[in-house]
Amino acid sequence: MPVSSARRATLDPSDWASIRAEGHQMLDDMFDYLEHIRRRPVWQPMPAQVRDQFHAPLPLAPSDLSAVYDDFLSSILPYSNGNVHPGFMGWVHGGGTATGMLAEMLAAGLNANLGGRDHAPIEVERQIVQWMRELFGFPATASGLFVTGTSMANLIAVQVARDWALGFGTRRTGVAATDKRLTAYASAASHGSLKKAFDSCGLGSDALRLVPVDSHHRIDLASFLQIVECDRREGFSPFLLCGTAGTVDIGAIDDLAALARLARKQQLWFHIDGAFGALGILAPEIAPALAGIEAADSLAFDFHKWGQVPYDAGFVLLKDGELHRNAFATPAAYLERETRGLGAGPDWPCDFGPDLSRGFRALKTWFTLKVHGLEAIGNAIAHTCELARYLERRVVQTAELELLAPVQLNIVCFRYRAPDADRVNARIVVALQESGAAAPSTTRINGHLAIRAAITNHRTEARDIDRLIDRTLQFGRALAPDLQVACVD
Ligand SMILES: Cc1ncc(COP(=O)(O)O)c(C=O)c1O
Repeated sequence: MPVSSARRATLDPSDWASIRAEGHQMLDDMFDYLEHIRRRPVWQPMPAQVRDQFHAPLPLAPSDLSAVYDDFLSSILPYSNGNVHPGFMGWVHGGGTATGMLAEMLAAGLNANLGGRDHAPIEVERQIVQWMRELFGFPATASGLFVTGTSMANLIAVQVARDWALGFGTRRTGVAATDKRLTAYASAASHGSLKKAFDSCGLGSDALRLVPVDSHHRIDLASFLQIVECDRREGFSPFLLCGTAGTVDIGAIDDLAALARLARKQQLWFHIDGAFGALGILAPEIAPALAGIEAADSLAFDFHKWGQVPYDAGFVLLKDGELHRNAFATPAAYLERETRGLGAGPDWPCDFGPDLSRGFRALKTWFTLKVHGLEAIGNAIAHTCELARYLERRVVQTAELELLAPVQLNIVCFRYRAPDADRVNARIVVALQESGAAAPSTTRINGHLAIRAAITNHRTEARDIDRLIDRTLQFGRALAPDLQVACVD
């Protein structure tokens, strides 16, 4: 049957002038959004009728771009996560930049697939790999890969270490074929994604031993040695030691140099989870605390946290690129490497991780690093730590508040003093978020619920810290009025 020439199958616009005008408007609106972000609440709950709009039937028929964009403006933009806002201090979220936003648009325009082949976007990713080798003191043979986030970067590192320990034949036979009982070690303050990684790699999350921490939440080296020796006596095969550069709860940095020495002595793979802390290397006042990072066999971190690259932009760096490739490369006829043409190029990123289709995360990172420069990013990182120390001082100077953990980087854990403190502080955090004034999150420190302010956004200023304190006191006094009298007395 002949193909109908009357049929218009392309999804390109029929009127480029109109989409151009609408696109310019969208760009302007997003610049306005970023420029005037302070005029908005940090976050606001979605009304039920807005949420209901996302239960619509399948859109079989087309809609006007302008109508869909109106939906975005009314139902999505006002109810976003809030991490662009300087008052956002929850979890550990970067704020993004206008530069990164533009780069995302350019990347979407190119629609490049960075699984492999020979094209400039792959070279951009290779450029970042080279810069990261240089930044973290890794050798020229080190490999690197963009991934969604540190959760995935941790998983990749654990998988490479597992195959290094068991032999790459495990990729065929599976872990069930070995009688080795692998064990690994990380601090009790390490991130939950590590446990997930052991689960996903078939080793089981019990294989990850959580070592007690000292009063500053750093892994206790003597306890580690005791646990590893005990495991060896009981017939386990220790294979990996994980240090954390910036624990999720309070921002502690393990003694990485000491861990590197111990790992070498114990013949363990040394992995570092540096999700947000690793890029502290850009701030001269933080870099010394990261001494030893260069000795890691693998390093996981995110550009989307302290690096301020828009979500998502995780990264994994492996000291031995050959081991990394051996853990993932899977030849296939339809992915044949050529010496010339589009199929050329030696190292395709799909050989270094589970993904074959990969977006152009490297572009927004390349733009961010080049346009702002590493010094300015380091300066923004140092500023968040300065603000954390300011918040710490304000907490310590305020009788109604209590500091719950030492401030080491950009994270402050504190609470409002109250008889039923856990309940009151949980409600204070919800009230802060729902008021739109500030958005901290919570965690538990020594069993107590803490208000956790992780100051990661480059836009945050001292006035945002003041507002957090003022509103915490206001909500605390309203929720626990009896205590106010006790404190004033
Ligand atoms: C120490 C640490 N490791 C891992 C992660 C997970 O990173 P991602 O959310 O990018 O997967 C986080 C997230 O905050 C973290 O703080």
